[in-house]
Amino acid sequence: MVEKVVVVGLGYVGLPTAALIADKRYEVLGVDVNEALVSELQAGRCPLGEAEIIPVVERALSSGRLRAAIKPDNGDIFIICVPTPITPNKRADLSMVTKAVQAAMQHVRPGNMVILESTSPIGTTESIIAGAARDVGLDPTIDLDICYCPERVFPGNTINEILKNDRVVGGLTPRAALRAKGFYESFCAGKAFPVTAAEAEFSKLMENTYRDVNIALANSFAHIAERSGIDVSKVIEVANRHPRVNVHTPGPGVGGHCIPVDPWFLVERYPEETKLIHEARLINDRQPERLLAAAGASGLVAGEKVAILGAAYRGNIDDARDTPTEKLIDALADAGLTWATHDPHVTRMHIESGRDPNLTADLIDAVRGAAAVFVMTDHTQYKHLAPASFSGLLPRMIVDGRRLVDTDAFLAAGVTVISVGAPTVSAGDYVQRIPA
Ligand SMILES: NC(=O)c1ccc[n+]([C@@H]2O[C@H](COP(=O)([O-])OP(=O)(O)OC[C@H]3O[C@@H](n4cnc5c(N)ncnc54)[C@H](O)[C@@H]3O)[C@@H](O)[C@H]2O)c1
Repeated sequence: MVEKVVVVGLGYVGLPTAALIADKRYEVLGVDVNEALVSELQAGRCPLGEAEIIPVVERALSSGRLRAAIKPDNGDIFIICVPTPITPNKRADLSMVTKAVQAAMQHVRPGNMVILESTSPIGTTESIIAGAARDVGLDPTIDLDICYCPERVFPGNTINEILKNDRVVGGLTPRAALRAKGFYESFCAGKAFPVTAAEAEFSKLMENTYRDVNIALANSFAHIAERSGIDVSKVIEVANRHPRVNVHTPGPGVGGHCIPVDPWFLVERYPEETKLIHEARLINDRQPERLLAAAGASGLVAGEKVAILGAAYRGNIDDARDTPTEKLIDALADAGLTWATHDPHVTRMHIESGRDPNLTADLIDAVRGAAAVFVMTDHTQYKHLAPASFSGLLPRMIVDGRRLVDTDAFLAAGVTVISVGAPTVSAGDYVQRIPA
């Protein structure tokens, strides 16, 4: 008998997951409250996602094994994959998980498996999923197999990572964990490791916190280098020759809706135990302001225009959620500067404060009239940027948050260069350094 899988939440994670499950001959119902998205999918079109995701989704839709609806229906396996953002005061907002689970629970029957994939604080599977099961008269450990199975995808390589990454599968009972292992290994090549639901919740938060703290450590090393006249990138390169050291890369901050969000789920519940994690979060959040302060120290003043290169939080993706560029724009506005944001991939960017990112896909438009250029994203297009890339429209300074530009070429052209993790070199100093 073909098992029916109901995937609730068809976003960056849920939609490709639903399509890949349908590819393995399950019958899949994808559910989303976004009516426009559902009608596109019902018409056989995939309106979002990376280039590799679109054909996989459209193939699943045309095979008839993936259908889309705005309401859940009966099934054998339910997967909840809705957003888990943080509130402005840095607390987990689990309202979408609660709503999605309550809607799904109306269709859950004894013998079904219910999986939460959304990144969640420790204890969420027990409190929200098991709680909702009890509310409809089901015993969460006897009648159902309830699991927490986090997703680890790296945006930009989603399909490959869903299929190949190893997974942690957490069960409220050992039986549930083993069933989830069998399910994930039926459509993924990666191995699934059974643990408890709480251990799986913690592992996901631990993974992203590990990355955040290590990036903050790299940023702290960058701050020391800036103060001591040393180039941090050279030092990291040689330090990483140590067989047990892996210093991360400093940058303009951390973005996306995972790494800058998930550590707060630990800080909120365990304030005493998370002082290091909390401080790391603040260090990474302050990077855009630090870059702006360095530009101010080099003479950038209120009323001038800044060209921001990169809205996406990472190179070569179209996702600008929680991007450090948003923090930079807020800091620019507070300092009385104006801005234009260039990005070759991002076409939509929402800024919480309501400010307009002034997005453009035309680099020269962005740079025209700018006193400073800030490189915020490691898009391939920005690698080795040189004065010629700006068609002769040179700013007074370039602030390289990603260490991508041709520093010598800009200095030779009279542009001051401020690089993350290196002392600022003003154009005048550079001219003096050139041997006669
Ligand atoms: N995107 C990633 O790279 C990534 C990686 C690992 C984990 N995660 C986690 O996966 C979860 C989902 O993230 P995402 O990036 O796919 O989010 P997303 O915002 O791209 O998509 C979520 C979808 O859920 C829908 N939704 C919201 N409430 C709903 C409800 N009550 N019923 C049905 N649909 C509903 C939204 O309309 C949206 O289409 C989050 O917890 C996130 O932290 C994301």
